[in-house]
Amino acid sequence: MMQIYVMKIETIELDDLVDVLGLTKGTIPTQIKPANDRRRLDDIFMSYLAATSKGDIVEIGTSYGRGTCILASNTSHTVHTINPLPEHHTGQITLNMTKKDIGKYYIDLGLKNICQYYGSSIDWKYEGSPPNFCFIDGCHDKKYAYLDGVMCEKILSDGGWIAWHDFDPNSKEYWVREVVAGVRQWADGRKIYHLKLRSLESLII
Ligand SMILES: C[S@@+](CC[C@H](N)C(=O)[O-])C[C@H]1O[C@@H](n2cnc3c(N)ncnc32)[C@H](O)[C@@H]1O
Repeated sequence: MMQIYVMKIETIELDDLVDVLGLTKGTIPTQIKPANDRRRLDDIFMSYLAATSKGDIVEIGTSYGRGTCILASNTSHTVHTINPLPEHHTGQITLNMTKKDIGKYYIDLGLKNICQYYGSSIDWKYEGSPPNFCFIDGCHDKKYAYLDGVMCEKILSDGGWIAWHDFDPNSKEYWVREVVAGVRQWADGRKIYHLKLRSLESLII
């Protein structure tokens, strides 16, 4: 029998989300340029959540370390970030990264409050201090979006937040639909905020 999961979604503007969650505003290193409007909105939101975090931060999916830079430069706590090497197993919707490219951005910026792990999130036995913010942006298969949420919820400290990248219930892109399906399973009746994209002009702060 197919299991139906219910998710209560509130699509919300960044300014309203700042009020609802009581977020502190962050900043983006000048070296980190956005690829597009959506990416800049994500950057701003990440910087706010990092600046608000009362403890360590976990990032699933380091890639070149662009997001890691935004997280690490907005906190004095440690950012724990994980990415698989080609020999590690992961799902279908992924990007293969070699060790020399993982985290390139933060290495170049000389950021020190970062702990890099190599492996798949699904096998990760996290032993750092409980994070107050988890940013999920690893494998985009439904199974991973769900299991990464389960793992993050287990380790999250009280009052912390989990954010999934590429969560947009209106998108037709298959990798976004997989993330939405995974979050739906994770939420199972709980409320999820969906950050609404606006034009970049109205986001300059
Ligand atoms: C979209 S990129 C991440 C972008 C990055 N968070 C940023 O903000 O710049 C997704 C990354 O997740 C990694 N990934 C894939 N499967 C993973 C897994 N099972 N666990 C952790 N990371 C994974 C990929 O290798 C890729 O580097």
